[in-house]
Amino acid sequence: MPLRIVYVSTLEQHVTEAELAALVDKAAAFNTSHGITGILAVEDRRVCQILEGPDAAVDALFASIKRDDRHSGIVELVRHGIDATTFDDWGMVRRGMLDIVVAAYAA
Ligand SMILES: Cc1cc2nc3c(=O)[nH]c(=O)nc-3n(C[C@H](O)[C@H](O)[C@H](O)COP(=O)(O)O)c2cc1C
Repeated sequence: MPLRIVYVSTLEQHVTEAELAALVDKAAAFNTSHGITGILAVEDRRVCQILEGPDAAVDALFASIKRDDRHSGIVELVRHGIDATTFDDWGMVRRGMLDIVVAAYAA
């Protein structure tokens, strides 16, 4: 059964918009090759990300995301099994914070 995780965190001050864009590109490629999909919102350094995909793969990715020193204060808000992933097969894309809230309450 696919797993969905939603978490919030705070991006470190030194991370630039260009670095964030590069991070998302790299994340999209990695996620796609591991059957993971999701969305990421960053607003005033506050981060919210939804990850969906095979449970072992999502768990392993989230463990690595938690170790990433480009953000801190990581709080897992949601962790549950889902019947099917809700996003398209895009790996990872940035969306507005409101889109994340809407998506977080779906499924
Ligand atoms: C806010 C945030 C979100 C991230 N999301 C992803 C992601 O969805 N997929 C991914 O492969 N890496 C993501 N990363 C990067 C990972 O934390 C990590 O750098 C990547 O898995 C490579 O880990 P490694 O250097 O230990 O191999 C994210 C990093 C941050 C700070």
